[in-house]
Amino acid sequence: MFLRNAWYVAAWDREIGRQPLARTILGEPLVFYRKADGTAVALEDRCCHRHLPLSMGRIEGDDLRCGYHGLRFDALGHCVEIPGQAQIPPDARIASYPLVERFNWVWIWMGDPARADPALIPNWWWADHPEWACAKPDMIHVACNYQLINDNVLDVTHLVYVHASSIGNPAINDFPATTERQGNLVRLTRWILDRPAPPMYQAAGKFAGNVDRWQIVEHVPPCFSINFAGCADAGTGAPTGNIVDGIELMALSAPTPETERSTHYFFAFPRKFGLNDPALDKVFNVDFVNVFREDVAVLEAQQRAMERNPFAPSISIKVDAAPMAARRVLQGMIDAERPVRLTEPG
Ligand code: FES
Ligand SMILES: [Fe+2]
Repeated sequence: MFLRNAWYVAAWDREIGRQPLARTILGEPLVFYRKADGTAVALEDRCCHRHLPLSMGRIEGDDLRCGYHGLRFDALGHCVEIPGQAQIPPDARIASYPLVERFNWVWIWMGDPARADPALIPNWWWADHPEWACAKPDMIHVACNYQLINDNVLDVTHLVYVHASSIGNPAINDFPATTERQGNLVRLTRWILDRPAPPMYQAAGKFAGNVDRWQIVEHVPPCFSINFAGCADAGTGAPTGNIVDGIELMALSAPTPETERSTHYFFAFPRKFGLNDPALDKVFNVDFVNVFREDVAVLEAQQRAMERNPFAPSISIKVDAAPMAARRVLQGMIDAERPVRLTEPG
């Protein structure tokens, strides 16, 4: 069950062009392409004649022609031509979906189109701001439910075990995190004070001694997380907002459900240091992606284990506070979207 009335990241803008792109989102096969003026289009990927995926057809002008019997559909999903036939039945149409391009992502709304307000797209301005460099690596396909990724991002203790060689170190476990909720937003905050920097931070910041490090994750449903991260020389005032010679970075995470058991994992890494440093570009475009791939191995193994035994009990521990809060918020929103069922009396 997915939240319908929400924006999701459908693709990087560079993925959509003048060839049809097939992609399943929220369990529904879709086809994406660009009109002649560059406007992106999303249609149901199923011809209303005999169900051939339209992604197997071809783009003609602003329209998409089915590759089987040649029905031609416009960008709103209306059939505008049936070869060899003048009459077009009124129900010869397929679904089309609102799209918005922002931060180099193409966002899709698959709920009630009347509620598709672009102001509801998360304001991830760092991705486009000149004072930040932002790595925008390719999406990773992950064979797991997207909520496992939400859980993963909201639990920063896994860095100690999954990312020990890069962004994890044992100091994390010495400092408890706090979880807060503000409306639908769940925030996890952890400060690690006066401890060595983890390997990748040390390589980037060349710190002389210990650092004060922050891990602050803000999550809003259905699947948007900002992980504010960084560190500065210990005792120079980072916890009170005075960041001197530190490194500030973040991970923007947008795991879009493909199906109940698979996800298109979109992410980007803004940083506020070394803006024109190609070596750092490589760190964020390659090394950080490899850090995420460490997560993918864990997430897919988790999904497989859960599918093997869906009724196996699991326990909850302290680090689950933020992930569980996020799951409760999302479930409440999904429940609120369901049609009310009336029970028959007697
Ligand atoms: S299946 Fe598309 S035109 Fe026949
Ligand atoms: Fe991770």
